[in-house]
Amino acid sequence: MAPRPYWWAVALPLIARGSPRIEPPEVFDGLPLSAWTTTSTEVRGYHVLLIQDPEDCKPEHAGGDSCRADQELSAILCWRGRPDFCTAIGAPRPRSLEELQDQLLQHGPLDNPERWKDLQQVGADRFAFFAVHNGTDAPKRIERIEELTGFVLVFEGGAFLWPGVEVGFVRNVTLHPEKGEEALSITIKTRSLKPLILEVSSFFSPEECAHVIKKAEPHVEKSGVSHMDHDVGKPAANWRSSSTYFMQSDDALLQRLDRRVSALTRQDVQNQEWVQVLRYEIGERYAAHHDSFDIRMYKANEDVKRMTEDGLFNRLATVFIYLTDVEEGGETYFPRAGGLPQPTDFEDCTRGVAVSPQQGRIIIFYSLDATGGLDQYSLHGGCAVKKGTKWSANKWIWNRPRGWRS
Ligand SMILES: *[C@@H]1O[C@H](CO)[C@@H](O)[C@H](O)[C@H]1NC(C)=O
Ligand SMILES: *[C@@H]1O[C@H](CO)[C@@H](O)[C@H](O)[C@H]1NC(C)=O
Repeated sequence: MAPRPYWWAVALPLIARGSPRIEPPEVFDGLPLSAWTTTSTEVRGYHVLLIQDPEDCKPEHAGGDSCRADQELSAILCWRGRPDFCTAIGAPRPRSLEELQDQLLQHGPLDNPERWKDLQQVGADRFAFFAVHNGTDAPKRIERIEELTGFVLVFEGGAFLWPGVEVGFVRNVTLHPEKGEEALSITIKTRSLKPLILEVSSFFSPEECAHVIKKAEPHVEKSGVSHMDHDVGKPAANWRSSSTYFMQSDDALLQRLDRRVSALTRQDVQNQEWVQVLRYEIGERYAAHHDSFDIRMYKANEDVKRMTEDGLFNRLATVFIYLTDVEEGGETYFPRAGGLPQPTDFEDCTRGVAVSPQQGRIIIFYSLDATGGLDQYSLHGGCAVKKGTKWSANKWIWNRPRGWRS
């Protein structure tokens, strides 16, 4: 797909239908807007909604729910997360999240109307709303309209993505994987907005990494790939030369890691595939590819058609885990990061963004944007290892529960 010209993003009529733009507050409910908005013109399907409820109607007050229900909805909507695209909303209080969604759509257009139409046919069209409660905890999904108050993030595609804000942006977050489990404080750093790449420099301990390697080691085999129609019959070594193993989370430690990934990505554990463990020896690499399935390329592949429900659902995010340090080479590279054109050499490791392996580090990168559409810029590969052995793992996360995992 050809990249859209720059003017397209700027010139689109953003907030339509007569609502005047307003200047948003710098701080709302004690939270700086700048940590959740973006000046990027590329973001689509993500909006920030600030609900202005009287102090004594907030959820922590007795009778807050019924008090809010009596109020008109008074809010500021910043379309596409842009502080310069904010408008004031005054409307009857919505009685359901569906009604709220319809109200928002009167203030701005869908960014991916094609997918929306297909979703409606299977009865699955629904924005996701996430509440930001404070500056330390990760946003929480709003399940019921009664919970609607304060600082709200809106995702057209129905799945949460960490707002990247800008390259180099740093966010400190405390995760609570499960009741009774130790909280984990981490720092999430934005490496790229297009595609969205986030880095957490120590997410797994050396002992956890060693456990994954030890458990996978007896099983790793030369990797296969999912073949696109035009590649059926070609050997997998044309693209990748690593060894891999899909490993079931059948012990307490692996299950704990799954919950931590779930707490970080804000997607249910049921949305995860088994972890894929990879070993790269010297000279081994993986040419640039996408982790999501572009259904147009898999018309003859019944498995892919079934898994994606004909392209409606997909791998949303990849959590890529570096299980070892590597003496030299073995970087993960994103040759289109920053909006670069399609490369001619898919093994050219020198373009875009490259992340070096470091034990315990992870990157999260998104194969879909906030509308649920494919992000062609998420192209990535593994540079050849030059010295040492690279162990890493992929955790693929879908934008819906994976039935086969339960
Ligand atoms: C932050 O919000 C969460 C709810 O999402 C709450 O459980 C937690 O106590 C709050 N933390 C602080 C420091 O206020
Ligand atoms: C994040 O936490 C680190 C310490 O872990 C601290 O040095 C840094 O100042 C914090 N950054 C922000 C933006 O709060």
